[in-house]
Formats: sequence, structure tokens, C-alpha cells
Amino acid sequence: MQRLLFLLLFFPALLHGQGMWLPSLLEKNNEKDMKAMGLRLDADDIYSPTQPSIKDAIVWFDGGCTGEIISPKGLVLTNHHCGFDAIQSHSTLEHNYVEDGFWAKNHGEEIPCPDLFVMFVVRMEDVTAMALQGVAEGMSERDRQSLIDKNLNQLKVRTKKEAWEDIMFKPMYNGNQYYMYVTVTYTDVRLVGAPPSSIGKFGADTDNWVWPRHTGDFSLFRVYANKDNQPAKYSADNQPYRPRHFLPVSLDGVDEGDFTMVYGFPGNTNEYLPAVAVQQTAEVLNPAKVSIRDRALKIMDGYMRRDPAIKIAYVAKYASIANAWKKWLGEMEGLKKYKALEKKRAYEAEFSRRVSLNTNWQYRYGNLLPRLEQNYRELEPYARARDYYLEIFVRNTELLSLVASMNNWMKTYDDQGLSAFAAKIPDVKGSLPGFYKDFRPEVDQAVFAALIEMYAENVRDEWGSGYIKTEAAKHGGYAGLADYIYKNSALARQDKAEALFAGDAKTLAESLKQDPAVVFWRGVTSAYQANVAPKLQEIQPQITMLQRMYMAAQLEVYKEKRFFPDANSTLRLTYGKVKDYSPRDAVEYEERTYLDGVIEKYVPGDYEFDVPKKLIDLHQKKDYGPYADSDGRMPVAFIASNHTTGGNSGSPALDANGNLVGLNFDRVWEGTMSDLNYDPAICRNIMVDTRYILFIIDKYGEAHWLIEEMKLVKGQKRKKKRDRD
Ligand code: ARG
Ligand code: GLU
Repeated sequence: MQRLLFLLLFFPALLHGQGMWLPSLLEKNNEKDMKAMGLRLDADDIYSPTQPSIKDAIVWFDGGCTGEIISPKGLVLTNHHCGFDAIQSHSTLEHNYVEDGFWAKNHGEEIPCPDLFVMFVVRMEDVTAMALQGVAEGMSERDRQSLIDKNLNQLKVRTKKEAWEDIMFKPMYNGNQYYMYVTVTYTDVRLVGAPPSSIGKFGADTDNWVWPRHTGDFSLFRVYANKDNQPAKYSADNQPYRPRHFLPVSLDGVDEGDFTMVYGFPGNTNEYLPAVAVQQTAEVLNPAKVSIRDRALKIMDGYMRRDPAIKIAYVAKYASIANAWKKWLGEMEGLKKYKALEKKRAYEAEFSRRVSLNTNWQYRYGNLLPRLEQNYRELEPYARARDYYLEIFVRNTELLSLVASMNNWMKTYDDQGLSAFAAKIPDVKGSLPGFYKDFRPEVDQAVFAALIEMYAENVRDEWGSGYIKTEAAKHGGYAGLADYIYKNSALARQDKAEALFAGDAKTLAESLKQDPAVVFWRGVTSAYQANVAPKLQEIQPQITMLQRMYMAAQLEVYKEKRFFPDANSTLRLTYGKVKDYSPRDAVEYEERTYLDGVIEKYVPGDYEFDVPKKLIDLHQKKDYGPYADSDGRMPVAFIASNHTTGGNSGSPALDANGNLVGLNFDRVWEGTMSDLNYDPAICRNIMVDTRYILFIIDKYGEAHWLIEEMKLVKGQKRKKKRDRD
């Protein structure tokens, strides 16, 4: 019993849910466990480098989300928020797909999306031995990396692949292992369907990161290929892609306790940080970033409430700033409430105890934790300044972001001369309409004034604040300085910027050098580059090296534990169970939501909680077609203990037989800390129920032709593998 308690305390993975596993290692690491939990497939049904397997239906969607193929004709399902750029970019006042949704009636009506791509994984391989050939302890980080790059380059040249395939490499376990991925990328991807935002974004920012949830967060695309089924640029002659595997879509729904797995491309986690780093995130870095975005969001919100046109212009920007802001807040709360630091410290005490019992370990790993502690402490003020700088001078003020994005190009004028500068003018010019389309200088100016004040008050003078204060003093304060810059910078007005870019290259280059926004950005940036960046460049490689050694040490010292590598935008499988949770005393959250809950939240005319009339009617008539639950209700979303993160948006949730039961799109508030501290008691991922997706496509969108090309399955839930199909 003691031992069990110990194992559960230190290895929550044993409680199921934790872990983002490498698909090629399922047989070795997970198959037994998964079968015990209910899986009715074999590991090679999920991933096989040679035979068709479920992995052939999973795509990296547009470089940040996941999607899955759900028909023999290359139909792709992903989230509404993942397809949002495509949906928005095709929207006009007459055809407002964001507001009204979009449903192609046939292939001819599908809309090409030139900037979109989807990537399949053909196979993955452990190439650690080749990658690390010649690498020795004690090498500088730079020498180590260049040797690895050289090794991998040679491997790339040697590896056989088809002409249309690509090869990429990814480090695992902080660079202790390397994997090679052979991939195929398709670029002719077309928009097929999307619900209106009042369904696809229902609840918007208020409900974001929160359960219970009632969002139909999905959209549909189609992959096109040339006549040989290979990737090709958009062409009217291209054909719908014929997949090696597509996901059958289940009508069975889920019950509490059901096995589920989520297959996709999680972006980034940090599960193996020492306590000192978690503390830094929770107590220093997150609070800094949250306070900056707090200010920016409040100012934007004020303008958006007063002016509907500003609301339209800023709603997407607001949502994206708010998304990370809210997640960081949830993470801070969760780390505290669920005692992440105490758990990490206990884990480290046990690590040190084991290390002390073994002379070899003692020699190699004995001082790792103290050194990590020392380096993180030394890093702290610089890491905090980095976050201030990035949040204010690169991200949340639009004018400064524009300058930041143009800086390298502007520098070519001084470094390489006028012709190098002039050669890139068309590119930069081409990006301007996109920038100005939703830019309102008065909003940005107010944000700017508030944020530069925050920088000046929170960051040391020699790190850029001194410059800001001097400039502010010249103009009667921060607001005066903001006023001066936004009045006099050509970049702060679309007409002035366009006139400038229409003129000759030399005048453009010289004017930009003197533009007050550019001068100001460079004033702060040069102080930051001189006094913060070098320290970061000195300490960060130390930390990288120590984290790599600490990871290696954990793998060795905790032999009985199965470690998964942190997420890094590579294909992973996570599995868990459909499960309710209790966020606080006396409160119990059930695992499923229903359409009745959408109607409960309905606020007529509200931008977050409006409900389309047609959906209200369908609810009233209970016109749910074959998609209702056995008790006649229309399911909307459910939660489970799958370990997911950003990038898992749009990932399929599969049942024990590999059928699609849900579409992942979020995590619950109390569990957003899972990137640093997964806790099976509280961490849940949120999925749209496939039956809601089918219902919206069929009954709301009346796009029955799409349902027809899918393979719907029913009554397979309890069947054994050999009895299926
Ligand atoms: N929280 C989810 C994710 O991280 C959904 C984001 C959608 N955006 C929003 N502002 N609601 O991507
Ligand atoms: N919404 C997130 C995404 O876009 C997924 C939710 C999460 O972070 O778990 O990837």
C-alpha cells in the first residue's frame, strides 16, 4: 500500500491520462495499458510505417492545429478557430461567412485557400545514434549543435524518399534523442463548410478555457491532389485526395468511463522543469504577462463597446490576445491550488535521495538541481525583462509590432545598400493592406501609451526604460509621447504609409530611419539588445544543457517510470477516459453538455451568446434526425482525461475501435496548468461530440451530401474487433 501511494504521488501517469506518446512506440510503452483501459485495436492499427493505419488520417493543419480525414474523398475536419483565418479572409459584407456560416453545395462551390496547407506523416524513425555520433560531454552547446546539424544533414542526403516527400528532424527529451519524420504536404486545400460564429464560437472569450461548454467549434475543408494523388499547387484539374485511411464517424456517443484517445500535433509542454522554474513561471513571468495583457485588453474592450465598427475590426485580435492571457491566469491558479511546487519539491527530494545512493550518479548528477536553481535565479530578472519587451515591443502594440516585423528589412539599407533594400519593398508593401485593414490608430495609441508606461515602471532604466522616460519627459508624459508618435509617424496612418511606399526607394529608406515610431522602437530595442540579450545568450545555453542532463538523469534514475517526451509539434497519441470532475468543494461538473444548455446561455443579440433562429427552431421541434442521444437529447460537448495542449485543437477523439466520437478544442479552466503539471484529478480536455457536428452539418447547414460521403457507424461500441465491419 505504501509503495502504491508512493507510485501514485510521483507517477500520476499510472492513474491514466498523463502523457503524449510517440505513435511508433505504442506497442512497447502503452499497448498493454491501453487495452486494459478498453482499447480494442492493436498498436499497429494506430501507427504503422508500412500498412495503412489511423495515422494516415491525421494531418498537421496549417502549421498550428490538427485535422483529420473523415471521408474517402479527402474531407478534413478541424476546429472553427483553426479554420477561422480562411473563413474570415473569404468573408465580405455580402457573403459574411463569419456571421452566417458557409456550406458548399458541391465540389465546384468549395473555396480554394491559397495560404493553407496540411501535412501527413509517412513514417517516423529514431535516429538518435546517428544524430549524436561524435557528441561528447563537455562540448560547448554551439559545437554540439553544429555537429548534430552536420550529422542530420548527412542522414537527410542518404535517406530514400519520394520526390514529393520531405524530411524533418526533431529533438526529443530535451535533445537526448532525435527523430526523423518523412512527411507529405498538400497545398490545395479548400473550404467546404463552417457553421456561423454563433455556433462555431458560441461563448467566445467568456466561455473560452471553461467547462461546461456549448461551442460547435468545427469547420470542414477538403484536400485536393493531382491525378496521381500527389501534392500539387491549386488547379481546377486537381481531384479530391484519396486517403490511405479515413476515420469512420460514430453515432454511438460516449458514456462516463469510456476509453478515448486523441491523436494529433500538440505544440509545447514543459513537464520536466525543476520547481524553481515552475515557481518563476507561476510567480514572476505569468503575472508580468497577464498584467500587460490585462491593460491592453481593457483598453481595447472600452473602444469595442463604444463603436461597433471597432468591435468588428478588433474582435479577432482581442480573442487571440485574450486566449493566452486567460490560459496563463488559469495556469497560475491551478499550479497554486493543486500544489505543483510542493509536488515538484517532493519529486526532487526523492531524485536526490536516489542519486545519493549511487556513487556514479552522485558524481554525474549530484549537483544538477543546485546548478539549475542557481541558473534559473540568475536568469529571472532578464527573463522577466524579455517578457516585458516581447509583450510590449513585439506583440501587443500594433504599430510597434509593425516596426519589429520590418526591422530586419530596414537594416538591409544600412548593411547591404539601397538595391538590397529596394528588392524587398514589394513584399513589405504587399503586407500593408492586411495590417491596416483592421487597424484603428486611436485604439492602438491608447494601448501604446499605457504599455510603454508599464515598461518604464517595471523594467530597469538601462534596459530601455531610461530612454522611454527621457522621451516622455520631452512630450509632457507617456500620453504626450504617444500623441507625438502617432501624429508624426507615417506608419500610424494608412494613407501616409501608402504614399511613402509609392515613392522612390531612397526616400522611403531615409524617411523610415527618421520615422518617430521607428526611432522610438530602436531606442528601446538597442538598450535591450545591449544589456538584456547578451545575458540571456549567456545563461540560456547553460539552462538548455542542464535541462538536457536533468532529463537524461530522470530517465536513468527513475527506471520504473515511463516518460513521454515534452510536446514539440510532432504527432502524438494521448489516451484517457470520459470523466467528470470536481473543481471545488460541493461542486461537481458532469462530463457531457446538451443543446438545452445552449438555449440556457442564449442572450439575444449578444456577440458571445446569441443563438441563430434556425437552431432555436430545431431545438424547439426536437428535429435532431438520427443524431440525438438515446434519451432524445442533442449532445454538444464532453470532457475526458486526455493529456492535450495547444496544437491539439482539431484533433480527433477516437473510441476504443478507432471511430471518431469527438473533436478536441480546449481544456477546462482548473486544468490549464497541465503543460507544467498534469494532474489526473482535475485536468480534462474538451471535445465537441461528433453527433453535434453531424447534426449541424445535416440539419442546420443542410449539407447532406457531406454526410453521404462519410462512413457513419452505429452499435459498434461493445463489439469485439473481429465482429466489426
Ligand atoms: N482555448 C482554445 C485554444 O487554446 C480555443 C481558442 C479559441 N479562441 C478564443 N479566443 N476563443 O486554442
Ligand atoms: N485551443 C487549443 C488549440 O488551439 C487547444 C486547447 C489546449 O490548449 O488544450 O490548440
